[in-house]
Amino acid sequence: MTTITVHGFKGGTGKSLIAIALGYLLSKQGKKVLLIDGDYFAPCFDAFFPQNDDVNPFTEYLEEKSKFEEVVAETRFPNLWVSYAPTPSFTQKILQADTKTHGGFLKRIYAGIKIARDDLGFDHIVIDNSSGISLAAINFLTCSNQSLLVIRPVRYGVESTYNLISAIYRKLRYADSKSVRRDFLVWNQVPTDEESIINPDIERYLNHWTDKFSEAGIQLGSRIPYISEVVTSMIVDSTLDIEKISKPISNYMGNLIKLLG
Ligand SMILES: Nc1ncnc2c1ncn2[C@@H]1O[C@H](COP(=O)(O)OP(=O)(O)OP(=O)(O)O)[C@@H](O)[C@H]1O
Ligand SMILES: [Mg+2]
Repeated sequence: MTTITVHGFKGGTGKSLIAIALGYLLSKQGKKVLLIDGDYFAPCFDAFFPQNDDVNPFTEYLEEKSKFEEVVAETRFPNLWVSYAPTPSFTQKILQADTKTHGGFLKRIYAGIKIARDDLGFDHIVIDNSSGISLAAINFLTCSNQSLLVIRPVRYGVESTYNLISAIYRKLRYADSKSVRRDFLVWNQVPTDEESIINPDIERYLNHWTDKFSEAGIQLGSRIPYISEVVTSMIVDSTLDIEKISKPISNYMGNLIKLLG
């Protein structure tokens, strides 16, 4: 089983969209997938997967108030399950929690992954992480054996991400004694012209930073252009349609899904 954390240093890079599209596409390939909304600071799964019954949020499991089975719910899509983020009051607790508390949460997450694999038969867990490098975000990065680092090609975003993130990822790989960990770079919202051509200056910029991330052990996973129909759906459709939103993104995810194995 693979646990894939979709991460970004900056907010709004497309983590949630990519995590949900990835989970959906894997489930369509017949894999049993659990999508976890790990973004306690800006949760969004309610908008994509309206809750029929009240399901306990993932953090109830972390706090040992629920069993793992009680924080996962089926969706209307075959093979696709979700776990929701908590209400904002828990976010306050997380912000104030110390390293020891987060250490306890990490142990619970590892135990949950084992239950998902051995007892519930999941093939993949895909985690929509919070941006930045909070202890909660680092926990999800630590417990995953694969990750996607989603970046928008904006100068200040790329440079700050590189400076902070490459050191953290090196540490994660250093702690990975079996060398199974793989981290991929995803350029998202890349500007293109009407013919989907990338301006040569942008191409040079992407190539320069792709090489730098690669030297830091974060291999290129995908380049996804800015797709205006995706944003249009997000604004116009009253219920977000995952099939419709994932379709244009899927054209750029095929190779990435192969890399994820
Ligand atoms: N490739 C893309 N083309 C067009 N719009 C995109 C693309 N990727 C993401 N978006 C849009 O950008 C916005 C931010 O995306 P999303 O919410 O997935 O980012 P995020 O990294 O999860 O943000 P946050 O840090 O707030 O959790 C959304 O409106 C989304 O539809
Ligand atoms: Mg998000």
